[in-house]
Amino acid sequence: MAEETLLYEGKAKKVFATPDEGVVRVVYKDDATAFNGEKRGTIVGKGAINNQVSNLLFRYLEEHGVPTHFVEQLSERETLVRKVAIIPLEVVVRNLAAGSFAKRFGIEEGTPLERPLVEFYYKNDALGDPLVTDDHAILLHLATAEDLAELRRLALAVNDLLVRRFRDAGLILVDFKLEFGRLGSGEIVLADEISPDTCRLWDEHTREKMDKDRFRRDLGGVEQAYQEVWARLKGGVAR
Ligand code: C5P
Repeated sequence: MAEETLLYEGKAKKVFATPDEGVVRVVYKDDATAFNGEKRGTIVGKGAINNQVSNLLFRYLEEHGVPTHFVEQLSERETLVRKVAIIPLEVVVRNLAAGSFAKRFGIEEGTPLERPLVEFYYKNDALGDPLVTDDHAILLHLATAEDLAELRRLALAVNDLLVRRFRDAGLILVDFKLEFGRLGSGEIVLADEISPDTCRLWDEHTREKMDKDRFRRDLGGVEQAYQEVWARLKGGVAR
């Protein structure tokens, strides 16, 4: 077989070319980083879980009318996705105060927000992914006003769907990060991943953290929490 071309290696994934120019192969790694790469580690089995969780959620979103890059899962760790030009904005949606929002505004973690909040961060490791306003994004040519409106609309639609999907699995979706990309046609589709690495998920009864905060805050039980999220999503929870 011909040598495979590695197109990109990120903190959690590798992306390879395929014979089809419009499609790339994503391979999920077990490497974990936090605080813009300052904290590093390995979460055993994370790659396989994140790949499968993300694919389950992307399929669900597609079924409910959200366009995504998903094509086909190849194995526990590998997925074919449509090739996109990533829009350099991280789109964060928040339902409850937590993380950087709780810290920035001095609000107690877990405080419900009156409505879902959408935030944009400039994807730039060297700058530490700064929060940007619409004007920043437009003036820096990261996206147009129309793009921002579309990103907000899609992010809120994804939030509505995911809140329900996680609730059915006994989990509270506190907040999460999305990335979007543009196809050759110009259409904006959901890209990257949705997993316990990119979401805050709390148990609906105990409010125990079941996501990457266990790694960020050295709470222990990281692997078990990721396994539990996957098991609950797969199996549903009797209620
Ligand atoms: O840290 P912060 O509170 O801003 O994170 C909001 C949400 O976005 C969290 O669910 C976090 O896991 C996710 N996030 C991410 N990748 C980043 C920054 C945040 O997945 N680079």
